[in-house]
Amino acid sequence: MLCYFIIHVWLVHSSHQGPETKHYSELPGHSFTLNSNFNEVEVGCYDALVIPGGRFTELFSVDDRVLSIVKAFADAGKPIVTTCHSQLILAAAGLLKGKKCTAFASMKPVIELAGGIWWEQPGITSPFDITACLKDGNILSSIGWPAHAEILKTLFESMGARIHTTKANSVLFLCGDYVEDYEFNVPFRALQAVGCKVDAVTPSKKKGETCVTAIHDDEGAQAFSEKRGHNLVITANWSDVSVYDYDCLVVPGGRSPELLVMNDKAVTLVKEFAEKNRVIAGVGQGQWLLAAAGVLKGKRCACGDGMKVMVKIGGGELEESKGCVSDGKLVTAVGWPALPSFISHLSKLLGLSLSFE
Ligand SMILES: *[C@@H]1O[C@H](CO)[C@@H](O)[C@H](O)[C@H]1NC(C)=O
Repeated sequence: MLCYFIIHVWLVHSSHQGPETKHYSELPGHSFTLNSNFNEVEVGCYDALVIPGGRFTELFSVDDRVLSIVKAFADAGKPIVTTCHSQLILAAAGLLKGKKCTAFASMKPVIELAGGIWWEQPGITSPFDITACLKDGNILSSIGWPAHAEILKTLFESMGARIHTTKANSVLFLCGDYVEDYEFNVPFRALQAVGCKVDAVTPSKKKGETCVTAIHDDEGAQAFSEKRGHNLVITANWSDVSVYDYDCLVVPGGRSPELLVMNDKAVTLVKEFAEKNRVIAGVGQGQWLLAAAGVLKGKRCACGDGMKVMVKIGGGELEESKGCVSDGKLVTAVGWPALPSFISHLSKLLGLSLSFE
């Protein structure tokens, strides 16, 4: 059984008075495979419940079985994560009385009518700046995907996790328009959640400007389809980017690496990270830029079919059966399906780990 992720792209209109929110648009995102049966869910088998945002929550808010599952998590005192619009399900389950809660701003009346106490992150001029996750007892709430790092961090803490680091890590993501959505967003937010300083840069753009992401998905054609994804916000000026400020370089896939190989500074940056023996990581088409910079020579690499020639002529050694491979300070993954393994390999090289007590 397949389901679709829906992408909510927040449109921010710039004026001389500063950015002003209009509304978000909705686009189809990745499809994902369900890995368990709804009717067989046993609350006792899980330590936390995550209800992502989106419009499916309207449908679920009138489903008695959904509400009984949510109430069972609440009765057991297990963490329940809500983001964006999924707070509606807490309202339907009667779980908001006296609870402090945040959400996408249109949810304020719902939260208050359900007896909750509305909270908004202060000092915000754009929804992209909202990064807080609010915790009241076992209820965790947030505005949505711009707060993913904080949601993950708060969830880990609520589950009794401890983050171990051997040093402070700063990580640079080299991106551009049509960077693959998961391949950028998932590791970017995950590394932020475990305390890394993470920047996203692209040639010629400044801090605060945006790039569009692309959704590359298997939809039955011979090659992956491409759809437009989120807007991602650039976090540092291209002219200021220097190898001296980062311990690690990540090149996500999508079509952006093709753009980066045509930029001398981007290619030189990759070479500099290699010369300084820093951690370098590539996902999917990210290997195109790594090959162009000559950092795959003699290294064992993972890559998808589309990048095999690139890796071979770049002097890399293909590991056909692996989704993700580490060789020295280089980590390579075939694409977004291997992200769990990629994040695990990358964390190990950066000296990061989580323990649950
Ligand atoms: C980046 O560029 C903008 C515009 O030129 C400038 O105002 C800002 O100080 C620069 N540096 C940083 C770190 O944002």
